[in-house]
Amino acid sequence: MRGKFITFEGIDGAGKSTHVEWAAALLRQRLPAGATLLTTREPGGTPLGETLRDILLHRPMHLETEALLMFAARREHIAQVIEPALSRGDWVVSDRFTDASFAYQGGGRGLSRAKLEVLEQWVQEGLQPDLTLLFDVPLEVARERLAAARQPDKFEAESAAFFERTRAEYLRRAEESGGRIRVIDSTRSVDKIRAELEEILASA
Ligand SMILES: Nc1ncnc2c1ncn2[C@@H]1O[C@H](COP(=O)(O)OP(=O)(O)OP(=O)(O)O)[C@@H](O)[C@H]1O
Ligand SMILES: [Mg+2]
Repeated sequence: MRGKFITFEGIDGAGKSTHVEWAAALLRQRLPAGATLLTTREPGGTPLGETLRDILLHRPMHLETEALLMFAARREHIAQVIEPALSRGDWVVSDRFTDASFAYQGGGRGLSRAKLEVLEQWVQEGLQPDLTLLFDVPLEVARERLAAARQPDKFEAESAAFFERTRAEYLRRAEESGGRIRVIDSTRSVDKIRAELEEILASA
């Protein structure tokens, strides 16, 4: 049986990484016999992908170059890690995937949805997450949390307007996703959020 593919999304500082390993541990308790679960992230997830991540997060570039490199890293990630795991029945949890490209390169930077859809089809050949958890917070909350946490990378240094557009595109996609994308109100406490995640993941 094919494994499940679950992705975590949301703007920088929304709380994805706070919950990824916790959710993975929860899911591991109820995997089918013989299956394992791996956690990974985008951009990245492979040695080449991590090199591309470093370039993407730190070097200025044309918005289409950025989108192409994101999908190049994703092509490698799918070929080397995600698809082999899913086809042998293992589960994959990824901190970001393609919804982030639509939100950041599309919503944030203004790259046309049509171009992103071409790349999505080319690189994914129909592969879609079974479930996506969208951690949603107003920009100010994300900013406040990040300010306490670390130095900003290229994306985190973007304007408030950029993140408003990014968040809006995430939410628009959630509405159109036919239930694949579940919006999590991430302004709540970690414990409250985890109680909701337990419910959602119980039927994953
Ligand atoms: N529900 C919460 N309540 C209070 N603080 C939180 C909550 N969730 C996360 N944080 C804090 O906010 C900061 C950002 O969280 P986290 O690193 O999980 O975000 P992220 O979505 O992974 O961001 P990025 O996209 O930049 O990796 C961390 O310092 C984290 O401890
Ligand atoms: Mg993170």
